[in-house]
Amino acid sequence: MKVVLTGGAGYVGSVVAHHLADRGITPIIVDDLSRGHPELVEGFELVRLDLTSAPLEELAQVLAGAAGVLHFAGLTLVGEDTRRWQDYLRVNVEGTLRLLAAMERAGVDCLVYSSSAAVYGEPEAVPIPEDAPALPINFYGYTKLMAEVAIEARAREGKLRAASLRYFNACGADPKLRAGEWHEPETHLIPNLIRAALEGREVAVFGTDYPTRDGTAERDFVHVADLAEAHLAALKRLVEGEAVGALNLGSGRGHTVLEVIRVVEEVLGRPVPWRAEPPRPGDPPRLVADISRAGRVLSYRPRLSLARAVEDALGWEQRMRERGWR
Ligand SMILES: NC(=O)c1ccc[n+]([C@@H]2O[C@H](COP(=O)([O-])OP(=O)(O)OC[C@H]3O[C@@H](n4cnc5c(N)ncnc54)[C@H](O)[C@@H]3O)[C@@H](O)[C@H]2O)c1
Repeated sequence: MKVVLTGGAGYVGSVVAHHLADRGITPIIVDDLSRGHPELVEGFELVRLDLTSAPLEELAQVLAGAAGVLHFAGLTLVGEDTRRWQDYLRVNVEGTLRLLAAMERAGVDCLVYSSSAAVYGEPEAVPIPEDAPALPINFYGYTKLMAEVAIEARAREGKLRAASLRYFNACGADPKLRAGEWHEPETHLIPNLIRAALEGREVAVFGTDYPTRDGTAERDFVHVADLAEAHLAALKRLVEGEAVGALNLGSGRGHTVLEVIRVVEEVLGRPVPWRAEPPRPGDPPRLVADISRAGRVLSYRPRLSLARAVEDALGWEQRMRERGWR
């Protein structure tokens, strides 16, 4: 079975590609390499193509014969999204619309979309169920929601079967260390804590006065290998003819920033010096997923702990340094 992964040379997409290949599925990577790295998907077919500008016919040719599409391609940086809002609309929304058009041309009707907890903005209640109001508080979140709505509308018309997987904080690396986070700049907490600890640098903790256990923000960290398993399960449901819809993918557990720092200190066996900084605008106190729907629909049971994610992220960081990639 052949499956196309847009944005498959990025972090989550490359880990999922290896996971699919381990299970006998052939991943075809479609990526413009604006933020992705061919090294992450060595050995797989890689088609270098920009979803926003490639001729639809060319895109349709790449998709032809695929059982489905996993759509990871996008711009993901909150902060950059306001400065480059037109690019965020073009890539995240128009790129998705063009993908839908190309899928129709190619006769491919199963789509797994990488959505985000950012669609919820500042939730009224935690843990967050899928039917909580979708009220993003940053431009990135709006673009993820716009694409989700377009996909949902096409699905309701019976034009495709789709899953919108709303990831919370993806973390860790491929457990066999073939792929992992390689972002420039790196904005995610765990790789930044690991790098700071290895280099003896201090890290900034944004917000120490939130209404949480220890005053720092609480997030739901989910191992990327658990996400990969959920993608496979969603794809199977769609290929079998079922509809999936929107699903939260987290661990279902919250960890504060200080709790994550403690786990990193335990795994690395060295202290992570930190300093308090004011909270960043638009950073809610608590974001934790209610994953019960994913449990029912996909039999989703996240298995890997935060400590395991930190171990894998550390292994990946060391591998990148050995190879001179960092
Ligand atoms: N990493 C997370 O914690 C997280 C959380 C929620 C949602 N998501 C979503 O998951 C997806 C993957 O995230 P990631 O962390 O792997 O990001 P990433 O930046 O590592 O990967 C995105 C990939 O998309 C590619 N791309 C960008 N624009 C493109 C275009 N026009 N045409 C073709 N390819 C293009 C990039 O080159 C890159 O390889 C994104 O859609 C993101 O919004 C990620």
